[in-house]
Amino acid sequence: MRIVIIGSGGREHALADKIAESKTCSKLFILPGNPGTKQVGVNIPIAQDDHWGIINFCLEQKIDLVVIGPEKPLIDGLTDKLVKKGIKVFGPSSRAARIEGEKSFAKHLMKENNIPTAAFEVFNKENYDDAIIYLNKVSYPIVIKADGIAAGKGVIIAKSFEDAKEALKECFVNSSFGSAGDKVVIEKFMSGQEASIFAITDGFDFILLPAAQDHKRIFDGDHGKNTGGMGAYAPTPFVNVQSLEIIAKEIIKPTLKALKEMDSPYVGCLYCGLMLTNQGPKVVEFNCRFGDPETQVVLPLLKGNFVELLFSAANGKVNKGAVSYNGGASVCFVISSKGYPNTYEKGFEILGLNHLPTQIKVYHAGTKEVNGKILTSGGRVLGVTSFTEKNDLIEAKRIAYDAITKIHFDGMHYRKDISDKAIHYKN
Ligand code: GLY
Repeated sequence: MRIVIIGSGGREHALADKIAESKTCSKLFILPGNPGTKQVGVNIPIAQDDHWGIINFCLEQKIDLVVIGPEKPLIDGLTDKLVKKGIKVFGPSSRAARIEGEKSFAKHLMKENNIPTAAFEVFNKENYDDAIIYLNKVSYPIVIKADGIAAGKGVIIAKSFEDAKEALKECFVNSSFGSAGDKVVIEKFMSGQEASIFAITDGFDFILLPAAQDHKRIFDGDHGKNTGGMGAYAPTPFVNVQSLEIIAKEIIKPTLKALKEMDSPYVGCLYCGLMLTNQGPKVVEFNCRFGDPETQVVLPLLKGNFVELLFSAANGKVNKGAVSYNGGASVCFVISSKGYPNTYEKGFEILGLNHLPTQIKVYHAGTKEVNGKILTSGGRVLGVTSFTEKNDLIEAKRIAYDAITKIHFDGMHYRKDISDKAIHYKN
């Protein structure tokens, strides 16, 4: 099978690595890819928003399956255009991708279908005054979310009325999130452990992959600003077999059913961000794609034929036996540039990427190759990921952490507590 992956981050490197492993894959292209994906496939310099460039390439190369990594091309309708040309795609249509692209759409869908999530209200820029009146009577903290996609930055936790007013001003007056912030969802703050679940679906049937936990803040102990994700581990002990059944029955199944009934059947990976509250799992957010960095720890835990899983879903009947959990554990430390998630410098040489242990995969995210050297080129630079045969997070963490000490670039930053919540958790 001739396969194309769209994207250029750590998630796409992990996808490329896993897809290249499958005997079903005869040729793999990554558009545009990164220096890491080049090690397992052929990078083609076509940007993810060049939809016609992508379509022409797929037609010329007789591509059997396209796997779309990031949300933007999905929301912008790349799947719809490829499908119209007869090309199979793993990734939802633009209508189904509204589950991530429009937070208010996802919240209304959940409310109408009794899917557990935080209570909420939606306000437009035109209802600025009503939003202020509402904020004056709620209890704090409260969460304010830009309705559209805002590169992981559009979520503000307001601790007081003053904070909340400031957040609204950022959205409605300063347009800090562009048009994504012209509408906001204001929702009740939830507390508990967070978990990320991937449902692989043909629009009706689905399987759930091992649950992961992301670490969104920049500093240890969940301090500092929100980022795209500073590390993850899987499986997380906070989601057991019983809670997985509840998640499948009360969240994933009714969500897919509702989308199908709205003539927006969802094909691809439905990312479900959960808060495990005292009243049970509740949805924090849905994303229309694999998570990053969670993909980097979930995929190494799968045995079987990953390509068969994706292709069967794209082809209308997901093969639920194509992959299964291999019994192991995986921990990923993201190494970021100094200053990230604010401004940062790029272009520092990365040393120590060779001769790492076989239980380590280094997924490239913000890197570029210049004259044979690997240089930093983004905020999140690398995902250093370990995997163990047994479900031993302590060992997995140790291996990943050892590997990091062998890697160097100027200003590199990483958290040291990835997976500690699980390690210290007593069941
Ligand atoms: N790790 C969070 C996300 O992929 O959105």
